[in-house]
Amino acid sequence: MYTQAMDSMPTEAKPTLRSAEELQLQQRFDARIDDGQFIEAKDWMPEHYRKTLVRQISQHAHSEIVGMLPEGNWISRAPTLKRKAILLAKVQDEAGHGLYLYSAAETLGTSRDEMFEALHSGRAKYSSIFNYPTLTWADIGTVGWLVDGAAIMNQVPICRCSYAPYARAMVRICREESFHQRQGFDALLTMMRGGTEAQKAMVQDAVNRWWWPSIMMFGPPDDQSPNSEQSMRWGIKRVSNDTLRQKFIDAAVDQAKVLGVTLPDPDLKWNEQRQSHDFGAIDWSEFFSVVGGDGPCNRERLAARVKAWEDGAWVRDAASAHAQKQAAKAVAPRQAA
Ligand SMILES: [Fe+2]
Ligand SMILES: [Fe+2]
Repeated sequence: MYTQAMDSMPTEAKPTLRSAEELQLQQRFDARIDDGQFIEAKDWMPEHYRKTLVRQISQHAHSEIVGMLPEGNWISRAPTLKRKAILLAKVQDEAGHGLYLYSAAETLGTSRDEMFEALHSGRAKYSSIFNYPTLTWADIGTVGWLVDGAAIMNQVPICRCSYAPYARAMVRICREESFHQRQGFDALLTMMRGGTEAQKAMVQDAVNRWWWPSIMMFGPPDDQSPNSEQSMRWGIKRVSNDTLRQKFIDAAVDQAKVLGVTLPDPDLKWNEQRQSHDFGAIDWSEFFSVVGGDGPCNRERLAARVKAWEDGAWVRDAASAHAQKQAAKAVAPRQAA
């Protein structure tokens, strides 16, 4: 998911209930949530629930779109035609994910222009993982394996999110993320099994750089995640940050063995009692510095999005001029009659 940033945002003030009617609506809403029912766009919902969803879904959409940048960088340099075709398809999928998610957020009454404005002005966050650079071809495989892998772990529970349009969008997204993870793993396996020593070293170097940022993708520890409890109660979030992180680490350890790479954590070891892996301390100061705008590529990523928006202005103008013309034509015969 690319939604961890919401956990680091301040909790908003709880709205005060104004009328008996509203109280009744609130009770009905709570009962539906407790009953595990889905909430649709036209259903009544508390303002705080709506705002939380707009923030989470739009941040998720921004992350999909910004996430295209580190990978798009390698389309022209993919080592074979097959890898180029796969990477093109993957980057295109991410654009699609962004579009489904912007559409889901729009059902909550926020326009796409408002969401873009929030991204471009730096008010809205996106996943901090995309502020790291992709230095070699092995980074592309590693992003697929670890970053898309972490995304699936985060996103599968959102398929059961209480807000139905978000949950529905996530079903298709998760299927595609699974392909992304496998293609990354496959690209790395090819290099590790049949590659030169230099290629193997390149894979290890990429894993060394991406491992810690990937496990930070699950967001701050549960006891430092102020909005998690409310999101869990609303059924927006189904599984806690720490539980998902542990699940991801346990799966990645086995996959790293198959690849023949070492995960860069000397404290990573199996704990028989917990039936899980123990792992070393995460440097949260790095996470907060990247979320706060000081990662290696924050400025570059935002500048690329703003430039794309400005360069596309003529397309938006032409499309709306065309739409206006068509609408005028549709009205004109009726007026004549
Ligand atoms: Fe995606
Ligand atoms: Fe993906």
